[in-house]
Amino acid sequence: MKVHGSVRVPGDKSITHRALLFGALARGQSFIGGALTSLDARSSARVLRQLGAEISPLRLGSVIGITGRGRLRRPNDVLNCGNSGTTTRLLLGMLAGHRFAATLTGDHSLRRRPMRRVTTPLTQMGARFSAMRGDGLPLTIRGGALRPLRYEQPVSSAQIKSCLLLAGVTGNVDVAVHEPFGRSRDHTERLLRAFGYRVEESADGWIDMSPTGRIEPFELQVPGDPSSAAFLVGAALLAEGGELRIASVGINPTRTGFLAVLERMGASPRVEAPVTEFGEPVGDLVVTPASLRATEVVAGEIPGLIDEIPLLAVVASRSEGTTVFRDVGELRVKESDRLGLMAENLRAVGAVAEVQGDDLFVTGSGRTPSGKVRTAGDHRLAMAFAVLGTVPGARIAIDDMRCADVSFPRFRETLASIRVRSR
Ligand code: S3P
Repeated sequence: MKVHGSVRVPGDKSITHRALLFGALARGQSFIGGALTSLDARSSARVLRQLGAEISPLRLGSVIGITGRGRLRRPNDVLNCGNSGTTTRLLLGMLAGHRFAATLTGDHSLRRRPMRRVTTPLTQMGARFSAMRGDGLPLTIRGGALRPLRYEQPVSSAQIKSCLLLAGVTGNVDVAVHEPFGRSRDHTERLLRAFGYRVEESADGWIDMSPTGRIEPFELQVPGDPSSAAFLVGAALLAEGGELRIASVGINPTRTGFLAVLERMGASPRVEAPVTEFGEPVGDLVVTPASLRATEVVAGEIPGLIDEIPLLAVVASRSEGTTVFRDVGELRVKESDRLGLMAENLRAVGAVAEVQGDDLFVTGSGRTPSGKVRTAGDHRLAMAFAVLGTVPGARIAIDDMRCADVSFPRFRETLASIRVRSR
């Protein structure tokens, strides 16, 4: 099989969530072009409507209009965040500065994900929580007057960081946060700067935000999601020939760690036509097949490629030698136990993979992958193994391919469209 053509991937999930949240905080109408319209984006839109924002239907290819009221309104019902951890954690930050109670819940996967990582610092700021079931959802938040916060995050996480920055915005107080290692995605910081907030990063890794700005109605074009593009990049690398262009993808350096790892493994992805749109770098990704060798992915790199580990692990299973992913314990609390399931599913299709402590080891082989994959409804596992399924002769049965809709509507069609038989 060869790859060919020029494709686009759906809008960036992280930026779409943030654009919807900021649109709900602005007083007046904002417009979001190129937004993701997947199940996760719909979860954000649904709960923000319950909180008083007017949002036009999320349809592929149409611009979203969102009218905010400056503040959120007390919801009449429970806020169901579906499968989306980003919606939940960022919304909790926004709600912390509002003087009413709101109850959040989610689907089976989201209800098992840890929330103390945000409720602990939000409590320090003055928010109150009740009805909490252990560490997870459902929970009720009651916001109000907040205190400034200076907080060392126990884990590097853009969701924790963004939650706390948003609490600073709605509570109108200074917030400083520090991540233990690596730099997680900085979309919230970039947007806040665009709205006039002072957001500074010091050499020792502290991010200081002062509420000097104002969220005004805006027009924003969402770039293609590099995390979705990664699956097509992987398929292109594993192909037997050709070249693939993925147009207008976000290339924010806090998101492109996977490209650096693939380069170390022997790939030569190129970025062409780079531009900056609304503070975010965007460009075309051009990829050709390559024979790859193993690498070591170190702890400091993990936040910059956290969502790409399933794809990288699949690629590692087709590379020469043993690739190590260090300190990837965070994968246990993603949409599934991604760490355990990656290793289990790689073995189920005949590859060599093992978890030791918080490290994942994947040894490459030329053996044709075949077997059954259990996704536990995790979109990124489904898409990673669909990419492995493009290897010639592969026979991989994935239990749930529909879950790809969480972040990449029409994934299967897009993957099929980039492949042609080699002559
Ligand atoms: C996200 C941050 C990441 C990532 C998730 C989206 C965001 O989570 O896994 O898909 O938009 O802030 P953590 O920062 O909690 O690791």
